[in-house]
Amino acid sequence: MKLWGGRFTTETNQLVNDFNASISFDKKLYSHDIRGSIIHAGMLGKQGIISKEESDTIIKGLEGILADIENGTLIIDDTYEDIHTFVEATLIERIGETGKKLHTGRSRNDQVALDTRMFVREQIDILSDNILEFQKILLRIIKENVDTYIPGFTHLQKAQPVTVAHHFSAYFEMLIRDRSRLSDCRKRLNLCPLGAGALAGTTYPLDREYCAEKLGFDGPTRNSMDSVSDRDYAIEFLNAASIIMMHLSRFSEEICIWNSNDYGFVELDDAYSTGSSIMPQKKNPDIAELVRGKTGRVYGSLMSLLTTMKALPLAYNKDMQEDKEQIFDVVDTVNMSVTLFAGMIDTIKFNNDRMEESSKRGFTNATDAADYLVKNGVAFRDAHGIIGRIVLYCIEKNKSIDEMSMEELHGFSDVFKDDFYDAISLKTCVDTRITTGAPGRESMEKAIAFYNEYVK
Ligand code: ARG
Repeated sequence: MKLWGGRFTTETNQLVNDFNASISFDKKLYSHDIRGSIIHAGMLGKQGIISKEESDTIIKGLEGILADIENGTLIIDDTYEDIHTFVEATLIERIGETGKKLHTGRSRNDQVALDTRMFVREQIDILSDNILEFQKILLRIIKENVDTYIPGFTHLQKAQPVTVAHHFSAYFEMLIRDRSRLSDCRKRLNLCPLGAGALAGTTYPLDREYCAEKLGFDGPTRNSMDSVSDRDYAIEFLNAASIIMMHLSRFSEEICIWNSNDYGFVELDDAYSTGSSIMPQKKNPDIAELVRGKTGRVYGSLMSLLTTMKALPLAYNKDMQEDKEQIFDVVDTVNMSVTLFAGMIDTIKFNNDRMEESSKRGFTNATDAADYLVKNGVAFRDAHGIIGRIVLYCIEKNKSIDEMSMEELHGFSDVFKDDFYDAISLKTCVDTRITTGAPGRESMEKAIAFYNEYVK
């Protein structure tokens, strides 16, 4: 059955039917579609556009369809054009003539806009919850590792020592922003397009406020053409999802580096690693690599929808049917990525000795050594030069700054005293960094107090 056969005299070409149909993927929207229709039918009855009995019959019919799809007794038939057609046709088949009144004052254009908004809104909530679960895992690791040293890098060159807590808290912060981006997107999308009709509203006395409220929206959309013709909320969602993946991808890259043979900072749990078919010694970080890889796929969906939308004249155009597969794919990809990544991080083992040893190497205390000279009256630029020459000397002698004798140090400056060794120890380097946001215990504890509130 088609919803639009009346003005046609010959059958549609079969390939056209196949090309045009969206049911193979938009069947995912069945529950959103039916819930929207139930409210629409209730409103039609309440407004006297159809009778109360007709409205009740339709609602009952729709509820039956929803229940039967859910319990598996009604299979969505892929020969229909789209999910909207399937639901309406099934309704008419089940309740007869009355079913033909459901679509009064409505178009598939406002209907599909409603369904996708409801779907994206629901997915925002699910994804946001999944991210929060991941943040709880991060917080546990943060709390356990306030004193676990790890080198901090810039340019992938050792820079200054930090802690595992501090490093992971950087990701915790990114995820806070990711969730707030999702909730911003949710706020903007949460207006109900139902009642916009094909593009110009309708002459029936619809109660759009009623439908909006019943479907959990903050109100009805304000312009009917805009309601059916924009997919910016989906683009915003794909954008937020892309940024989440970008963050996970950077984290993945770090896991791959830390897990590499030469670093050995972490060991992934067997359950979250894979082997090689030929090299028996291998334990590969495939989950991290796949999350990094799938980031490209999510960016692709964002670019795809942006491009689909870029030159569409108002109002509805069939091009917009292309939004769904991108949205669905991104939803699956991002949720899987967040959940698997969280599981991998939850079971990761840190090699504390190795990270501490590495933190001591690579002159990560050079800045603190220069600061020691500054605190003892040397101008920073001169201090920088002195420590630079010391580093060169150490590289030549294959030692670290704290392994130099006082005599050797005095060869560069007579400002050095015995308290120098303590001033550049790993512990001092980290613990004295207590400005807001720094890795020292005192600042880290403030951050942890904030995170404890956040995850509540
Ligand atoms: N399957 C269509 C879509 O996803 C539903 C809307 C159809 N509207 C129309 N005017 N043909 O966009």
